[in-house]
Amino acid sequence: MKTNNKKEAEIQHQKGKLTARERIELLVDEDSFVEIDSLVETRFSQFGMDKKKVPGDAVICGWGKVKARQIYVYSQDFSKIGGSLGEAHAKKIVKIYDLALKTGCPIVGIIDSGGARIQEGVASLDGYGAIFQKMIKASGVIPQITVIAGPSAGGACYSPGLSDFVFMVKKIGQMYITGPEIIKTVTNEEVSLEGLGGADIHNQKSGCAHFICDTEEQCFTEVKTILSYLPRNNLENPPKRKGLLSELFERESARLLEIVPKQEEKTYDMKMAIKEIFDRDTFLEVQKDFAKNVIVGFVYLDGKLVGIVASQPKVLAGVLDINSSDKISRFVRFCDAFNIPLITLVDVPGYLPGIDQEQGGIIRHGAKILYAFSEASVPKISLIFKKAFGGAYIALCSRELGFDKVIAWSGSQIGVMGAEQAVKIIFRKEIENSKNPTKIEKEKIKEYKKTLSCSEAAKMGQIDIIIEPKQTRKTLIKCLDSLLNKRESKPQRKHGNMPL
Ligand code: HXC
Repeated sequence: MKTNNKKEAEIQHQKGKLTARERIELLVDEDSFVEIDSLVETRFSQFGMDKKKVPGDAVICGWGKVKARQIYVYSQDFSKIGGSLGEAHAKKIVKIYDLALKTGCPIVGIIDSGGARIQEGVASLDGYGAIFQKMIKASGVIPQITVIAGPSAGGACYSPGLSDFVFMVKKIGQMYITGPEIIKTVTNEEVSLEGLGGADIHNQKSGCAHFICDTEEQCFTEVKTILSYLPRNNLENPPKRKGLLSELFERESARLLEIVPKQEEKTYDMKMAIKEIFDRDTFLEVQKDFAKNVIVGFVYLDGKLVGIVASQPKVLAGVLDINSSDKISRFVRFCDAFNIPLITLVDVPGYLPGIDQEQGGIIRHGAKILYAFSEASVPKISLIFKKAFGGAYIALCSRELGFDKVIAWSGSQIGVMGAEQAVKIIFRKEIENSKNPTKIEKEKIKEYKKTLSCSEAAKMGQIDIIIEPKQTRKTLIKCLDSLLNKRESKPQRKHGNMPL
């Protein structure tokens, strides 16, 4: 690889950032990077652009290997014309997208850019248009990862917006459609760049990013890790891991009884349960800081990669809400596109009640989960821990929605709603008219709870298997194994109309 120009390196280092080349070096295997189009020049000579003409046009493009598997990569060079995107710059990115698509390789984009190159006007806008079109064509065909390691301003944000996974580096990575100055003029609000579109905001609040990293070194290590989990394209299966099988298959999930308390009202950390059930130290959580009431991520089960979607009883009792619906749906669609089986771990009281939720569109957001799971043709297994109520049962477990295997822990409850709420509705008059309402209510709750037993659902064939918690791992392995050759045909249509 070419070396860094000293002056340009200084510009980056002074801002606490690595150079575009240093970033690629951190990402790919040693000596594997091959650069293309390093002599491509800026095309326009208006507004003093002649003086700024730079070979390579402020972006480094090429291919290399990550853990011996080929990827394509582009890295914007802020030290030249602010990494801004003009016609030639865009054409270089489009070219590597074409190559990545032809060869079925993941693509990693490293963004450090002032956005559309102002001097090139419509040519730079159309450059973005061309990139976005390629990204949309590549969606579901090759994994697309974007690293935000500098500004990503204006419409440029839609490259990360269209990516499968967005990594942001703290302090240096910022994404925003309009910056603080314009916001001040238009709405009179004052905000810093970091407070507007820093890594914390996009990982915790907006949900536009999936991973947050303290340093660039950590960031590229994590990008390499996620790439090692994923298939290179939609025609491949995810890589398997060997050597975990015998010890882990035999392991009973005995500690689950300690992790998950029997008492209904007691809460627990689902991440501990995930650790106990799946192959050790293989859980890679996605969007861990956003919508923490649900957990999504990749994990290995008996050496095979699965995507898990789990309730987190520790946060908001694990309810589904607007943000968690978006988080789950996008993850499910990624897994489905790339042949990654799905397992849900469910302990859910329902969808979150509230004016904010209703007026914020929980109906259309919640519908996304139904759509995504129902549409997914990969193996789908659901496991109910303690309870699954209402629409959340349908979304995360229902065999009628398309889950292939539905498993429940003995003693778990399934119903339209919990006994306390149900009794208030169906026995309201009886309770109100009684001499001792509290006593009657308690009796009715006890009586009603019997109808919630998972064995009632099993009698209807809606639950396939009832197990003891310690059998969890073995049962999941057997279910997954039985579904690996699953094939599902789909009706002919252009595409469905997913709620968005
Ligand atoms: C041309 C640009 C540029 C741009 C920065 N530069 N952005 N040149 N087009 N969009 C140049 C600067 O003129 C400067 O050149 C050099 O890059 C470094 O920029 P600085 O401002 O000195 O750096 P810094 O202080 O770190 O600030 C970085 C920044 C700021 C916050 C990104 O440059 C900025 O606000 N840029 C404009 C952002 C923006 O509004 N972009 C357009 C968005 S609209 P010299 O020669 O002085 O070193 C958009 C529409 C796309 O992108 C639509 C697609 C659908």
